[in-house]
Amino acid sequence: MSIKKIIAVASAKGGVGKSTITAALASYLSKSMKIGILDADIYGPNQHILFNVANSKPNITNIDGKKLFIPITVNNIKLNSMGFILDEDKAAVWRGPMLSGAIRQLMQSTLWGELDILFIDMPPGTGDAYLTVVSEIKPDHALLITTPSKLSIQDTLKSFSTFSKLNTNIIGFIVNNIFRQTEKIEYTEFLERSVNFIGGVNFEKDFHDFQFNTQSIEIEFIANYLIKKL
Ligand SMILES: Nc1ncnc2c1ncn2[C@@H]1O[C@H](COP(=O)(O)OP(=O)(O)OP(=O)(O)O)[C@@H](O)[C@H]1O
Ligand SMILES: [Mg+2]
Repeated sequence: MSIKKIIAVASAKGGVGKSTITAALASYLSKSMKIGILDADIYGPNQHILFNVANSKPNITNIDGKKLFIPITVNNIKLNSMGFILDEDKAAVWRGPMLSGAIRQLMQSTLWGELDILFIDMPPGTGDAYLTVVSEIKPDHALLITTPSKLSIQDTLKSFSTFSKLNTNIIGFIVNNIFRQTEKIEYTEFLERSVNFIGGVNFEKDFHDFQFNTQSIEIEFIANYLIKKL
């Protein structure tokens, strides 16, 4: 089992497009690379819904006495998510060690095989799930997502602090123009911290339709930037 690069797609702000952009980038890159997605959002997993495999269940295999999940393959992407394994109501009351344990297990007990990139779709916030991913899974890079709103920028900076305190390289930030903001924003807070602007993603009404996304010039641009920087 070998994973060449792990990229955490993150923002402490909820609903800024982390899951959608992860899925779109993975869909584009999966045409030429071996791609996986770990949905680390234990309370509200989404990837299984985005890829229309919500009713699938990963099979379990036994390798050297260890039980491993076989990830669901969809659009040539290997996907594992708590959404396949657990009903959401149960996870909703998890805290601290249970949450960390679940993410750890999901990562370690999945037969990822050979991957060029594993994307980790991060939950919002900077709580236990974050710390487990950053300190134990140790992503090679963090990709920050923000919208142009001030609140999103402020919250995304919290993710920046968490990743930088734990020495995760921050590959840059993406602005998801989810609210069709037209006012010019400078993003000085990111630039002052030497976080590169990678690109913007426009509001698209069919953004959840990955046939459409894989043809998005913005997603292609960001994906190609990532390949160059990895
Ligand atoms: N560029 C876009 N154009 C149109 N709709 C978008 C765009 N990006 C995201 N959306 C929509 O915005 C909503 C929130 O996106 P998404 O769930 O990907 O955000 P998130 O950051 O992963 O949320 P959470 O913090 O809850 O995990 C979804 O309904 C999604 O379809
Ligand atoms: Mg999400």
